[in-house]
Amino acid sequence: MKLLIDTDPGVDDALAILMAHAHADVVAMTIAAGNVGLRHTVANALKLVEVLDVDTPVHPGCEQPLVLPAADAAFVHGADGFGDTGYDAPQRLASGEHAALAILRLSHEHAGELTLIALGPLTNLALALRLDPTLPGRIKRLLIMGGAVNGRGNTHRVPAEFNIGFDPEAAHVVFSGWPMVELIDWEATMRHGLDYAELEHWLSADTAEAGFYAAISRRTRTWALEHGRKRLLSADALAMAVALDPGIVSEAEERHVGIELAGSLTRGATVVDWDDRMGRPANARIILAVDQARFESLVRSGLDRTTRK
Ligand code: RIB
Ligand code: CA
Repeated sequence: MKLLIDTDPGVDDALAILMAHAHADVVAMTIAAGNVGLRHTVANALKLVEVLDVDTPVHPGCEQPLVLPAADAAFVHGADGFGDTGYDAPQRLASGEHAALAILRLSHEHAGELTLIALGPLTNLALALRLDPTLPGRIKRLLIMGGAVNGRGNTHRVPAEFNIGFDPEAAHVVFSGWPMVELIDWEATMRHGLDYAELEHWLSADTAEAGFYAAISRRTRTWALEHGRKRLLSADALAMAVALDPGIVSEAEERHVGIELAGSLTRGATVVDWDDRMGRPANARIILAVDQARFESLVRSGLDRTTRK
């Protein structure tokens, strides 16, 4: 499987990226601002490439959302986006090619073969789509981690999830310009949490990936426990599991999804037409449930490849 990852690493992005490199040919990573600023998300992606000892290209993207500024998620991920562990700066260098242009170039080089997964705000993908509206025809699958299909989001705008809420205009461009996306939302993430003790056991593996992830995730695991989360929620890891093994999906529905841009309480909401009241064609396959055991197996193999099935 050829995978192109657009991401704002970010601790859960990091787990998804480790999973991807354990199971797929990652042709490149294009980097968004989101969890933290672009300077950190690019450095974090480069550090992961170094820890993995691979030569995956890293393409910096947009520093800001398309229209309005947005707050980051440093309170969860740390000021540097990787738990403020003070890791040694990566020696690897980022590409000089912009993320949006890399997405278009790679869509031609690997026409019809790429699985594109978006794990952060959709700014880069929106720009690529505006530059070339024929992009969807060359992409095999587009998966998006984002949204809250029944309005239970994770930001101060209650129905908005972070990735969509960070750049709603970009999400509107993508959802209105792409025929069919696979959507893994925050509510599915909440249904598929990870057991803290199990994760601790997986993190005790004697691998570079497990050691690095144990360090950068310590702060988010502590934060989650202190905020009463019964299980660790790893949205990007869930989305990556669906990308890597579509067969783990046990329940999904195709519906039209629109993005709210103007609501004072609802800007960034993913509005799902569950009863087809607007008569618009479905543009999203909403993933509602997956096989939990197979999801956890994919997570574990990202930390310790000897456990790969
Ligand atoms: O709402 C969860 C999403 O926002 C994840 O992608 C996480 O990394 C943050 O970017
Ligand atoms: Ca992310």
